[in-house]
Amino acid sequence: MSNQRLIAPSILSADFTRLGADIEMLNQSEADYIHCDIMDGVFVPNLSFGIPIISQVSKIAKKPLDVHLMIVNPDKYIQAFADSGASIITVHYEACDHLHRTVHSIKDTGAQASVCLNPHTPVHLLKDIISDLDMVLLMSVNPGFGGQTFIENTYQKVKGLRDLIDSTNSKCKIEIDGGVNYETGKKLFEAGADILVAGSFVFGSENPSETISKLKTVS
Ligand code: DX5
Ligand code: ZN
Repeated sequence: MSNQRLIAPSILSADFTRLGADIEMLNQSEADYIHCDIMDGVFVPNLSFGIPIISQVSKIAKKPLDVHLMIVNPDKYIQAFADSGASIITVHYEACDHLHRTVHSIKDTGAQASVCLNPHTPVHLLKDIISDLDMVLLMSVNPGFGGQTFIENTYQKVKGLRDLIDSTNSKCKIEIDGGVNYETGKKLFEAGADILVAGSFVFGSENPSETISKLKTVS
């Protein structure tokens, strides 16, 4: 199956003193999703923002919110994130003891269910859950911070995941998060990724909207 070329800018790198303007820019851009990074200071060594911000962003966002939960006990908050406007809810494999239950509790809210793997977690561990998933998010940096260096091993993980998905005939999408730029983005799309998250590369550029368009068409 051929992959799509979609972009999910991460508002972790947005200017929070003018978040509304940055969301408006994303609304007008070719961005496909708005990636929202939720950090609890426990699962990852950093804090970001939470449910009140997602609720407010969802009121003005014209693109679906792709909510990446870097938190322990995600089950506690799934309904609240769904109610606040999340279209996709991603939980970490490493944070879930009963992943099948968690995935189905996401689906029960009406949101799409996604599982994220840290850089050290192999793709084959998803074999028995892959057909239940709408998306898999592969971390291409260790989660917790924007602006880190891309981990090269990710390319072969994308290929392995693409094979796993194709073998089940599922419509599960592959999203990659961390260190995405024109060079890594091109190779990731070629390897079979559908969606690229990009934070610092988009918001740190002179013309974020143009950067989003160019990321979609890198060849
Ligand atoms: C990192 C977050 C990422 C982050 C990516 O833990 O999950 O979504 O915003 O930032 P960049 O694109 O700057 O690597
Ligand atoms: Zn993320």
